[in-house]
Amino acid sequence: MAATMEKAPEKAADKAEGALNRIDARPIDLLTSRRSVLAAQLIEPGPDPEALQTMLEAAVRVPDHGRLMPWRLQVVGKTAQAELGELFVREFARDEPEAKEERLQLERVRPQRSPVLVIVSSKIERDHAIPEVEQLLSCGNVCMNLLHAATAMGFGAQWVTNWPAYNPVVKAVLGIPQDEHLVGFIHIGTPKSPPSERARPDLDDVVRFLPTLPPG
Ligand SMILES: Cc1cc2nc3c(=O)[nH]c(=O)nc-3n(C[C@H](O)[C@H](O)[C@H](O)COP(=O)(O)O)c2cc1C
Repeated sequence: MAATMEKAPEKAADKAEGALNRIDARPIDLLTSRRSVLAAQLIEPGPDPEALQTMLEAAVRVPDHGRLMPWRLQVVGKTAQAELGELFVREFARDEPEAKEERLQLERVRPQRSPVLVIVSSKIERDHAIPEVEQLLSCGNVCMNLLHAATAMGFGAQWVTNWPAYNPVVKAVLGIPQDEHLVGFIHIGTPKSPPSERARPDLDDVVRFLPTLPPG
């Protein structure tokens, strides 16, 4: 990053509704206006197979130190989403036997909220010169790229985890080894309505410029 900036960047928090997810603008405008759309707000149509293929290609076009491809993606079809919902219900009820049907229904619907669900998990090379954390970061990039790609193609998307990402039975059923990470459930679909902006960090709170190193 340059040591100085001529003009302070626009703060995303200042964006009006409608100025979000600007796919008709310059690529940088999309990056500075991207906003998740809640999974529950994602309706049909989802991406068709061709569009999904493009998104997946973009998703795996990530920095990958050592070219280890330390990620795996699973596109969960509608029947599998329903089966996953039943699994979530069983696992949730096992932990909370007193849970009311209404709550269980929420769990049933959880993985079925959007037309398309992609699960991103890690496949870490152990005892490798490339530290595990770097491999995991590459997985995060896959999720982020998928969000950007879906948004760039006019869809809405959200990255969620919640308890199922950390549930051993869910991981086992999905074929994710217990020592790997279920990094994200990526929901993709058409936004029911445009998202509204959320507060964004003030750059001054998180960025500092170092023309020289601090003393000491
Ligand atoms: C690893 C990770 C896990 C997340 N899990 C959840 C989740 O389970 N539920 C949720 O509502 N948001 C979750 N979020 C936050 C949303 O993906 C998203 O950041 C939030 O809705 C704000 O949207 P934005 O992308 O417009 O900033 C998660 C984010 C990350 C990075």
